Formats: sequence, C-alpha cells, structure tokens
Amino acid sequence: MSIKDNIDPTRLPQHIAVIMDGNGRWAKGLGKLRVFGHKNGVSAVREVLEGAIEIGIPYLTLYAFSSENWNRPKLEVRALMELLISSLTKELKTFQKNGVRLNAIGNLSDLPQNIQKTLTETIEATRNNSKCTLTLALSYGSRVEIIDATKKIAAQLAQGTITAEDITESLFSQHLYTADLPDPDLMIRTSGEQRISNYLLWQMAYTELWFSPKMWPEFNRNDLYEA
Ligand code: IPE
Ligand code: IPE
Ligand code: MG
Repeated sequence: MSIKDNIDPTRLPQHIAVIMDGNGRWAKGLGKLRVFGHKNGVSAVREVLEGAIEIGIPYLTLYAFSSENWNRPKLEVRALMELLISSLTKELKTFQKNGVRLNAIGNLSDLPQNIQKTLTETIEATRNNSKCTLTLALSYGSRVEIIDATKKIAAQLAQGTITAEDITESLFSQHLYTADLPDPDLMIRTSGEQRISNYLLWQMAYTELWFSPKMWPEFNRNDLYEA
C-alpha cells in the first residue's frame, strides 16, 4: 500500500501553503552553485503541483520570492527572475492540460516589467481553469500585506464609506492579497528550518505546520502525501 492510498479523501486539506526552502544548501552539498539548486527547485514545483492535482487539492500556494529576497546578490536575483519567466512560458501548456489557474500575490509592481507582463498573460490565459488554483507569492511579505490592507481600510474610514464598527475579521481578510483564497489548512516548509519567514501571518492563524528535513529540490509527491 502506498502513502497515497492511506490518505482519507474526506479529510484532504483544501489549501496547502509551501515555503520552498533549501535550494542553496542542496546545491552546495553537491559542490554546485546556488543557481543550480534553484533550477532543480523548478522540477520539485512541477512534482508537487502534479501530486496535489492527483489527489485533488484545490489551492496550492508557493512562496517563490520574498520581499527580503531582494537583498540577495544581484546575480542570484536575476537568475531567479529568469527562471521564473522561462518556467511560466514553458508550463503554460501543462497548466491548460491539468486545469491549473495561475494566481499571484505580493508586491507585484516590484517585479521586472517582462515578468509582470508574462504573469498577467498567464493568469489571463488560465483564468477559466478550475481544478487547482496555483498561487505564487512573489516579492511577498506578510507584514507589508497587512499594512496595505490597513491603509485601504483607513482610506475608506476617512472617506466615511465605513465606520470603525464595520472593521471585522472578515472585512480585513477581504483587503488582503488572498481575498479570493480560503485560509491554508496545512503549511509545509522544507530544509528543516522551523520559521514562518513573514509568510501568510494573518491567514495561518489556525494552519497546521509541517516541517520536512528534505531540501526543496529533493521534495517529491510522496513527501507531500506524507505531510
Ligand atoms: C529557497 O531556497 C528558494 C528561495 C528562497 C528563492 P534558498 O535559496 O533559501 O536556499 P537555502 O535556504 O539558502 O539553502
Ligand atoms: C523563505 O525562504 C522565502 C522563500 C522560500 C521564497 P528564505 O530562505 O528566504 O527565508 P529565511 O531568510 O531563511 O527566513
Ligand atoms: Mg533559505
């Protein structure tokens, strides 16, 4: 019996959020450059996405680039951006074939123009797919997201379109980047680090946390099923 057969289909998480960590360490362990780890991280993304679709997970959210990651060496940042654009272009066919709707959260206007364009095009092209919503967190930071929501609500308050009593958990959630997504039921972080790293702080109030010792490029669908 495989791990997959042990999964109770009535108790599946609806939304899995992932912190894909350990690309650099994995590459270093093989005597390679960090960028080699990021390249192999893309295969793990494909593997986990396919695995999620196979068991019927409707929402998968991947932390692909944090707002803090801009502080990494220029060359690494550029390599990550290039990988992102080439993967989006390459995967469009698979998204269509597997019913994947692409979505993105974060401070997207920080991203290079060509990435913003490809992202918008891919999101548009996949908008009617309904098997799985794949959300990429890009230039994402949860504290900034919470501040952005607060500013939007403050502006409405100042205009008098709402009163202080209207500010509820539900109203607040509607102003986050994740307004259209259910809160994650499960959060997976690879590489053995047990941190949240400014990821979905509001949304993970009740999320179960799963830390895998595997580096992200080694993580496969059976690891997902185990989680
Ligand atoms: C995760 O792997 C990928 C990104 C953050 C983009 P890391 O690049 O953080 O790899 P480690 O943690 O240094 O091994
Ligand atoms: C978190 O990983 C961000 C992503 C996976 C994109 P990091 O490797 O950047 O996080 P810290 O710095 O170790 O907390
Ligand atoms: Mg890391």
